Amino acid sequence: SLPQVLSGKRVLVTAGGTVERIDPVRYISNDSSGKMGYAMARVASWLGADVQLVSTNRALATPLGVAVQYVESAQEMQAAVTSEFAQLDYVVKAAAVSDYRVRNARGHKMKKAETGSETTIELVENPDILAGLGAMKEHQIVIGFAAETQNLLEYAQAKLQKKNADWIIANDVSEAGAGFNVETNRVTIIGKENLIKELKHMSKLDTALAVWKTITGIE
Ligand code: C5P
Repeated sequence: SLPQVLSGKRVLVTAGGTVERIDPVRYISNDSSGKMGYAMARVASWLGADVQLVSTNRALATPLGVAVQYVESAQEMQAAVTSEFAQLDYVVKAAAVSDYRVRNARGHKMKKAETGSETTIELVENPDILAGLGAMKEHQIVIGFAAETQNLLEYAQAKLQKKNADWIIANDVSEAGAGFNVETNRVTIIGKENLIKELKHMSKLDTALAVWKTITGIE
């Protein structure tokens, strides 16, 4: 059995790719499966925490003992997380949040125009949920994820600073067997004061356990 280091702690994990509506039947999203977030939630529960998931993915099985709230867009996700924030001890932002949303999401299905014509979808910037939490945090520990395809350490360390996060879990998504839609991952944990810990390539569940052990200081 695992040490109950998160006993009495409230943890909220966001997971999955946000869905930004174009119209009632079309959307913009990304390749995030939500699996890393679900692994973080499952392991937090094993370590004794009171865990909530804010998820975009209804296809994944809810871990035992974890409460789940489903959302679609970045704005919905932000509202769900922000309303809980004061009560939380840890927030894990494993979700892949769309940087943009559609300016005027249509209430009805868009019709195809004349043959040969073009159309444009205007995008506006979404709020950065993690940066917003970083700016308002008091006692909370805020953990972000960073998917990169180049200059992993440099970009991830910059994100830690810029978003005022306590930890950034960085992974190179261009590497086979790491990142989106696979069962395994290979991440680097980045903390304050230039703390860097490279983990081996392993299952997302084992990765989550190693991440929580580092964050809680038991390893
Ligand atoms: O997209 P980016 O690499 O900046 O994402 C890093 C972290 O910031 C992730 O934890 C992600 O969930 C979070 N993020 C967010 N809101 C955004 C963009 C990213 O919370 N609009």
